[in-house]
Amino acid sequence: MEKSLHAQRKNEHVFIAEKQYQAKSQNGLDQIRLISQNLPELSLNEINLETKFLNTTIPVPFFINAMTGGSQHTTVINEKLALCALQNDIPMATGSLSVALKENSPVGFDTLRKVNPTGFVLGNLGAGHDLHNAIKAINLIQADALEIHLNASQELVMPEGDREFHWLANLQNIVENSPVPILVKEVGFGMTPRGLDVLKAANVKYVDLAGAGGTSFVSIENERRERKELAFLNELQLSTAESLIAAQPYQADFSLTASGGIRSALDIVKCLVLGADNVGISGLFLHTLLESDEAGLNQLIADLTMQIKQIMLLLGCKSIAELREVPYILSPELLNFQKQIQK
Ligand code: FNR
Repeated sequence: MEKSLHAQRKNEHVFIAEKQYQAKSQNGLDQIRLISQNLPELSLNEINLETKFLNTTIPVPFFINAMTGGSQHTTVINEKLALCALQNDIPMATGSLSVALKENSPVGFDTLRKVNPTGFVLGNLGAGHDLHNAIKAINLIQADALEIHLNASQELVMPEGDREFHWLANLQNIVENSPVPILVKEVGFGMTPRGLDVLKAANVKYVDLAGAGGTSFVSIENERRERKELAFLNELQLSTAESLIAAQPYQADFSLTASGGIRSALDIVKCLVLGADNVGISGLFLHTLLESDEAGLNQLIADLTMQIKQIMLLLGCKSIAELREVPYILSPELLNFQKQIQK
């Protein structure tokens, strides 16, 4: 039995996320249809999956997004994720490093760098932290980039969560002075145009829309409450498809990451067509690792890579940049959403 409350909470997150995992997600991407090309004039091996990821280029357009760490159980999970990240040359984000800062100890996060000394690793912290803490977190794991998560909905549902949300001054200071790129993300609630306007004014360049449809922290934290009365807050979230559509007018302002309920190669390709440069995956990778260990996760990553190429072939695209030109059709519901949100 792990002693600290924090460690217990991290273990519960993994347990409840896995309990709530559903193979079919509600990310809204099934309301988008891509139009294929019957004469691709391409061969599979011509297709290049390289794409932009923050200040670098990555070989495939997806990565392991923030999940966990900070307890014995979750350190083992992180080490396995780190090994798969290394073996497949994909970036990996840690879960929030705030516990390490609070306890002034690495609490296991340092071992993932030992497993994966050369890969692209992102640290993760909540938006309440200042520049001093951001730099400590970066140094703790020699992070190549830092994710800052915006999670007002999650905090409100946590009985012990924050009740004050004055984040902007710190965030701006971190973005302007961090030695590594800052990726600002939601946690499965979806970034809105109102949020993006504020991030743009704060000089943020990298945003993970982290939409709803997969892991929901409102639902996870609600499940941990004695009275499970706050699920209605989920109605304020935007799905991954909605947040991507809402972010289209901002494509010149940010390099966009899409995430939230990604379950398949087709989900990934749709996000890229809608304007994301890369795609983050959490729940699906966690579920696969828990069910079938590193071998299963490596197989999934290989399958996704091949399936993305197959889809791109049928779309007549040999690069991620060309995906932006693919025609698509929105469901009446999403079309209505697009008309109203992009006023
Ligand atoms: C998360 N997520 C998360 N995000 C973050 O910024 N800091 C964190 O510490 C965590 N912790 C965490 C734990 C677990 C067990 C899961 C599954 C997820 C949220 C994650 O990065 C992502 O935004 C959401 O999970 C939505 O993506 P998926 O899971 O639907 O692919």
